[in-house]
Amino acid sequence: MAGEVQSWVLMATARAPTNIALIKYWGKRDEALILPTNDSISVTLDPDHLSATTTVAVSPSFKQDRMWLNGKEISLSGGRYQNCLREIRKRAGDVEDEKKGVRIKKEDWEKLHLHIASYNNFPTAAGLASSAAGFACLVFTLAKLMNVKEENGDLSAIARQGSGSACRSMYGGFVKWTMGNDADGSDSIAVQLASNTHWDDLVIIVAVVSSKQKETSSTTGMRGSVETSPLLQYRAKTVVPSRVLQMEEAIKSCDFASLVGLTCADSNQFHAVCLDTSPPIFYMNDTSRRIISLVERWNRSEVSPQVAYTFDAGPNAVLIAPNRKVAGLLLQRLLFQFPPLPDNELASYILGDKSILREAGLQSMKDVEDLPPPAEIKDKAPFQKFPGDVSYFICTRLGSGPRLLTEENQALISSETGHPK
Ligand code: ADE
Repeated sequence: MAGEVQSWVLMATARAPTNIALIKYWGKRDEALILPTNDSISVTLDPDHLSATTTVAVSPSFKQDRMWLNGKEISLSGGRYQNCLREIRKRAGDVEDEKKGVRIKKEDWEKLHLHIASYNNFPTAAGLASSAAGFACLVFTLAKLMNVKEENGDLSAIARQGSGSACRSMYGGFVKWTMGNDADGSDSIAVQLASNTHWDDLVIIVAVVSSKQKETSSTTGMRGSVETSPLLQYRAKTVVPSRVLQMEEAIKSCDFASLVGLTCADSNQFHAVCLDTSPPIFYMNDTSRRIISLVERWNRSEVSPQVAYTFDAGPNAVLIAPNRKVAGLLLQRLLFQFPPLPDNELASYILGDKSILREAGLQSMKDVEDLPPPAEIKDKAPFQKFPGDVSYFICTRLGSGPRLLTEENQALISSETGHPK
C-alpha cells in the first residue's frame, strides 16, 4: 500500500503589499465579521520594500493544515485564519495540472490539507501593519491555488475577515474600504480609487520609532473606543463621511495641499479618540510628537504644506512628500534631529529606496553631522538632537496590489518535501 501513496505537491506563491490609512479605520460595528463603523481610505506601499510573500501547497500526503510564519510554525486554530480558509474552500473550483497529471475536483478541497509558508520582508514586530499584508497575501494565494473565480472585491471581503485593513491591501494605489450596510458583510469591501501610476511623484518615508512599551492591540483598543468614546461616535457619523468625499476629490485632482490637511487632521482625530477612550490609550510617544512638530513648523513656514504625517496604532510616523526633491529636504530635517547612533552606518539607517539620500546630498555620516539646522529654526534656541530615538527610516512609494510569483525559486515550500525550504 505504501508504494501507492500519491506523492504530488501542487502550490502557488504570491506577494501582497501593506497599506497605510489616510482616513482611519477605528471601531467595529460587528466584531465577528470585522465590519467597521466608518469608511476608510489608504495608500498601498511598494511591495519591494514592505510586503508579505506566501506559498500555499496542497498534497494528499499532508495530514493537517499547517502554517509557518517567518520560518516558525504558528497555530492556524484562531478564528481569523479559520474564517479565511473556510470562505475560500467554499468557493474553490476544479484544478488540473497536466504536467503533474493531477486533477482536483472542487468537492475534493474540503478533504485536502494545506501547508502554508509566509515571510514578511520587513520586521513583523515593528508595528507596520504586517497582518494587513499577511492576510491579503494568504487569501490571494489560496484563491489562485484553488481556482476561485470571484472578483477581488469579493476576495477583499474574505481578507477583511482575517484582518480588517487587509481588505485594502487587495489593491494597489489609493483604496477605499466601504463600510457597507448588509448584515452579512458582503458589501463591506475594498475598491480601488486610483492606481499607483495615477500620482507617482509621491514619496513615502516611514520612521520606525523605537518603542520598549507593549502597545494595546488594535482589537482591544477599538473595542474600548467603541464602548466608551463619545468622540468616536461623532467622528464616524459626522466627520468621516465628508472627509472621505474630500479625500476622494484630492486624490482625483492630485491636490497635495488638501491631501496634507485631511491626512494630518484625520490622524490627529484618531489619536484624540484614543485619548477619549476610558481608560485612555497612548499610541504615540515623545518621538512621534517631535516628528509632528518638525513637520508642522516646516509646513507653516512655507506658502503651501510640504509634507503630510500619519500615525497608526503605534509610534511609527508615515510621512508623505509630493516629490523626490521635497523628500530629500524632509530627510535632511529628520536626520538633523534624529541622527543614527555613532556606531551606526547610514546604509543600515536608511532602508528601501536609498537614492533619496543622494537627493538629500547625504553620502556619509560626516554629511549628516555637518547638516545645518533647517532654515525655519535658524534663529531659535539651540535645537535638541535625539540620536537613536528612530530605529531606522524606510524610503518608499505607492505600490501595486497582490501578484503571483511564478518562478520555482520564489516558492517558500519545497515541492519535494512539502515543507518550508
Ligand atoms: N501576520 C503577520 N504577518 C503575517 C503573514 N505574513 N501571514 C499571515 N499572518 C501574518
